[in-house]
Amino acid sequence: MYKIKSILVLLLCSTLVFAGIRGKLIGDRVAVFYPVNFDSIGNLPSLAFEKEPVPIGSIPKDWKFIPTFYTSGKETVATFPVGKGVSLYGTGEITGTLLRNGKSIDLWNTDTPGYQRADGNRLYHSHPWVLGVREDGTSFGIIADNTWKQKLMLNDSIRFVSEGPAFRVVVIERSTPQEVVMALTDLVGKIDLPPLWSLGYQQCRWSYEPDSRAKEIADGFISRKIPCDVIWFDIDYMDKFKIFTFDKAKFPDPKGMNNYLHERGMKGVWMIDPGVKLEKGYPVYDEGEKQDNFVKNVTRKDFVGPVWPGDCVFPDFTIPRARAWWAGLYKDFMANGVDGVWNDMNDPSVFKVKTTTMPENNIHRGGGGLPEGNHLRYHNVYGMLMVRATREGILNANPDKRPFVLSRSGYLGSQRYGATWTGDNLAIVEHMKMSIPMSLNLGLSGQAFNGPDIGGFAQNTSPDLFAQWMAMGVFFPFTRGHACQGTNDKEPWAFGPEVEKTCRTAINRRYRLMPYIYTLFHEAATTGMPVMRPTFFADITDMSLRTVDENFLLGDNLLIIPKWAKNSPIPKGNWRVVSINGEESKYDQFQADVLQKEGTIVPVGNLIQSTATYSTDSLTLLVSLNGSGKATGVLYEDANDGFGYKKGEYALWSFNAETKANVVSITITQTAGKYKPKNKLFKIKVISDSKVIESNWLTGNSLKVKI
Ligand code: NOJ
Repeated sequence: MYKIKSILVLLLCSTLVFAGIRGKLIGDRVAVFYPVNFDSIGNLPSLAFEKEPVPIGSIPKDWKFIPTFYTSGKETVATFPVGKGVSLYGTGEITGTLLRNGKSIDLWNTDTPGYQRADGNRLYHSHPWVLGVREDGTSFGIIADNTWKQKLMLNDSIRFVSEGPAFRVVVIERSTPQEVVMALTDLVGKIDLPPLWSLGYQQCRWSYEPDSRAKEIADGFISRKIPCDVIWFDIDYMDKFKIFTFDKAKFPDPKGMNNYLHERGMKGVWMIDPGVKLEKGYPVYDEGEKQDNFVKNVTRKDFVGPVWPGDCVFPDFTIPRARAWWAGLYKDFMANGVDGVWNDMNDPSVFKVKTTTMPENNIHRGGGGLPEGNHLRYHNVYGMLMVRATREGILNANPDKRPFVLSRSGYLGSQRYGATWTGDNLAIVEHMKMSIPMSLNLGLSGQAFNGPDIGGFAQNTSPDLFAQWMAMGVFFPFTRGHACQGTNDKEPWAFGPEVEKTCRTAINRRYRLMPYIYTLFHEAATTGMPVMRPTFFADITDMSLRTVDENFLLGDNLLIIPKWAKNSPIPKGNWRVVSINGEESKYDQFQADVLQKEGTIVPVGNLIQSTATYSTDSLTLLVSLNGSGKATGVLYEDANDGFGYKKGEYALWSFNAETKANVVSITITQTAGKYKPKNKLFKIKVISDSKVIESNWLTGNSLKVKI
């Protein structure tokens, strides 16, 4: 329908302006293209890019992939042709399959319970970004560098249709999709290495209240020997939902609450929403009002809209002064021993209006080089700018700790400031399955640290669904169970002994894989490669893998196949099922199969209750030899928190295995970093097709195992 409309527009519309193109190279095979009617004030400075790209030369004559720009009525458009056999991905957090061809996506951040609005084509994030993989594996990426409300249509063309003024696009050309994703993050930024504790299992509910219930949950993990790192505090800890307050009856001693967790090797993450209750005498409102920090309506009065606490005003995060004020609010808050912050409802969500958000003509006043603009322009970056200020605030409060913020909303580049989860899913099989392509595409859009509400947020969860979801969810980058108020208990033990055992085994697998997972986060922070990767990354020219979204790669070396997967092809080569913690997934109705790629070494740690006792002093190396008897692997380690690693206080190791006369020799070399950990103990497990040969604990830099 849209196609016919646009052809008609092309043929008939007298207001149509065909725009010429200016282009510049801004990096190795990275080009920016401007329409002749490019509106710099309406689009710059870019909020996607970490810094303004600098031209380094002209577009090479043989550059083929060039946009067509045009303006049609109030819409500005950039289109690209899609060649035969091109697979499209990226596009951020949308429901549906991994492959994005044929999709029409609304880039307009939306509070969408159960993903029900716009048929799941409009969610909490906006990523004006497409990754294209050609049949031969060569790949391209396109960024439409504007924050305005827009549509992204992926049919026989790639079409960005913006309600804002004419915008520029950036095109990345590379020989592989992996290189495109890395080049994307060179432009829009990478995750910062998170604290190790945030990679552990996390337990949430709306809400664990009062504090005694939260303590009971924490103790429940310890007494049942199920590892857990974090207990989350949803809105009910607040006094009448007023942010930066605590309910005196239910949470009289938040510091004591956090200490309770800390004494047990756990952390507390607490929610802060953007809406500030309009109430004279409430210090957050009074100060924000005094400084004139709130978003204005079209008559330049504070915009007022209802959220949880009733009528609220909303910080205008485009104003540097408002961001500094917001950041400052975290000083006293963090002094309660708060370890991390959860920014929710920052789409921004507004109740009791059909649009579920602010009017498009609301005014954001900008500053510091950012022009004033309406909500149509700044809506999609509201959450990102909020998280930017939050991160600054918690970093100022605790300058020696790595900040952890989880945000519901985001925009291209928001991984620079925090992690995300995929919002309010339902406790249904379809949403469990869909969490794989959603998380994969977020990773392919630059956000490596993400995951769904394990078990499903809304509606009651059945024991079977919970077990299936946990068995798979422990291999996602962000691993948190969450539940909506009014739904059944969703802790690992709430479904009876069999599910409890399944969850313990699954979570133990994650914790034992922690050295490998932490190494992947280091890789994501340094190169931009996602932690969770689509299976086609294992063989980018195998067209049969392009649509696979019932299994996925954790890093390059492990393939995760959920038990429920029916359409689960395996890439070419020898992928061997491995046991991480003595479990035998083959005989288990829930545990995902974990397959290790031939020629790789995966470091595995010891069983722990939380990352508070994580250590790499003794490691098991899973060695899966290739046909030539060789295998390689890496390990990253540092102090698990703090910023010493930025000054070289880390160690990067490489493991190299070779086989001669039935003896596997493993050489262990520190390849980077000045961190000198004490001598390690290694247990080697050589995995072949028929058996696993296990060594005793060995030490040294050259280990030998007879096979
Ligand atoms: C909406 C969030 O998506 C959900 O995770 C949270 O529990 C509720 N808001 C209540 O704060």
